[in-house]
Amino acid sequence: MIMKHNNTLIQAIRGMNDVLPADIQFWQHIESLWRQICRQYHYEEIRTPIVEHTQLFSRTVGEQTDIVTKEMYTFEDRNGDSLSLRPEGTAGCVRACIEHGLTYHNIQRLWYLGAMFRHERPQKGRYRQFYQIGVETYGLHSPAAEIELILLNARFLKALGLEDLQLEINTIGSAESRQRYQKVLTQYLNQHQHRLDADSKRRLKRGHPLRILDSKNIELAELIKHAPVLSDYLSEDSSRHFDTVCQLLKDASIPYKINPHLVRGLDYYNDTVFEWKTQSLGAQGTVSAGGRYDDLVSMLGGQPTAAVGFALGLERLVLMLKNKSIDIPSVDLFLMPAETKWISNILLLAEKLRDALPYLSIHTHLSDGKLKRQFKHADKSNARFALIIGQAEQNSHTISIKNLRETVPQQTLTMPALIEFLHTQFKRKTDHEN
Ligand code: HAM
Repeated sequence: MIMKHNNTLIQAIRGMNDVLPADIQFWQHIESLWRQICRQYHYEEIRTPIVEHTQLFSRTVGEQTDIVTKEMYTFEDRNGDSLSLRPEGTAGCVRACIEHGLTYHNIQRLWYLGAMFRHERPQKGRYRQFYQIGVETYGLHSPAAEIELILLNARFLKALGLEDLQLEINTIGSAESRQRYQKVLTQYLNQHQHRLDADSKRRLKRGHPLRILDSKNIELAELIKHAPVLSDYLSEDSSRHFDTVCQLLKDASIPYKINPHLVRGLDYYNDTVFEWKTQSLGAQGTVSAGGRYDDLVSMLGGQPTAAVGFALGLERLVLMLKNKSIDIPSVDLFLMPAETKWISNILLLAEKLRDALPYLSIHTHLSDGKLKRQFKHADKSNARFALIIGQAEQNSHTISIKNLRETVPQQTLTMPALIEFLHTQFKRKTDHEN
C-alpha cells in the first residue's frame, strides 16, 4: 500500500527494497546455512555501525574509485562531521579491529552480515541498499588463508545447491609491481587512445589504467586482450605466493580459471584477488568477491597485519535460488479444525506439540472454512503434514494426520503416538540442523 503524505505518494526509495514474507524464507535459509558453516570453520561474528566517518572509506576503498567518487551516501551530521553510509564491510571491520586491539599479535577470523549502500543505477541484481555477507581473516600470511576462505565459500555455495559458479582468480602483486606494470600499460593504452571509450579515457587521464582492464564494454575486449599482462611484472615473492595458491586449489580439487584481467574495483588489494561468477544473472554475475589486503591495517594506523577476505551479495544468492526453484522448507505442520467449533482444540494441540517438539514449525488455521478449502491452504503452505481435529477425533481422543507430500493413507493417532511418529519423521531434520 502506498501512503499519502501532504498529497504526495510515499514509496520506498529507488533501489532500496522491502523483503516480503513470500521471499523471506530464502533469506533465512541462506543466513542460517551461513551461520552453520561459519561455526564449522570457527569464524566469529562482528557487527559494526552502518554509518562511519567518510574518510574511512575514501582512504581505504580509494579516493578515485567509482564507489567513493560517485556512489557513496555522504552527509553532514548536526556537528558538521562528514559521515557516510557504509558502501562495503571491510573498512569498518578493519577500523573496529584496530580500535579494539583485536588484531594486535592475534589471528582473527571474523564474519559479518548487513546492509551496504551504493548509489548505483538500480537493475536486476544491483541495488542501492543491498546485503553482504562477508569474512575477513587477520594475521595469516600463508596462501592457505586464501584457500581456507575459498573452501568455505565453495562449501557454502554447495550447501545452497549453487554449484554452477566459476571461480576466477588473479594476482595483482605488490604496490611496487603494480607501479611498474602501470607505466607499461599506460604507454600501451596511450598508443591506442582513439579506441578507448569516454570512461576509459577518464580513467587513463586520472592515472588508473588498471581499471580499464575490468571494463564491461565489449568494444574494448580486443584491445584489453592484447594488453601487457601484470604477471610479467610480478616480484619473486608475489609469483611464488600465487603459484602456491594455484597448487593448493588443485590439491583441494577446486576448479578455477586464471583471469589476468581481474583487478577489482577497490584500491586496498594486493596479490591474490578472486571472484565467483555465474552466467545466470546477466550483467551482475559476480556473486562473491574478495582478495588479500595486507597493507590496509597499517594504513589505518594499526600494526602491519596480513589480511584476506571476501563478500557475497545476498540478493544475488536469492535470485539464483529462485531461478532454480529450490524447495526451501518453511512450515512443517498445518493444523486445522474439521469445523469452526474445534478451533480452540487446534490452538491447544499446537501448544502441546510445541512443548514436545520445539524444533518444528507449526501453522494453525484458526478461521472458518470448509475442510476442502483448508486442505488447499495446507498444500499451498508446503507443510509436510496436515493435522485435523473433528468430532470423531474428539470422541476417540485422537488426532488425524495426513501426509501432504506422499500418497499414503491418513492415520488417526493418540497424542503420545502422534508425538512419537512426528519425532521419527523429523529426526533427520534435527540431526542435520544440530
Ligand atoms: P565488492 O566486489 O564491491 O567487494 O562486493 C562484493 C559483492 O557484493 C559483489 O560480488 C556483489 O555480489 C555484491 N554487491 C556489490 N554491489 C552490489 C549492489 N549494488 N547490489 C547488489 N549486490 C552488490 C567488496 O565489497 C569487498 N568489501 C569484498 C571484500 C571483503 N574484500 C575483502 N574482504
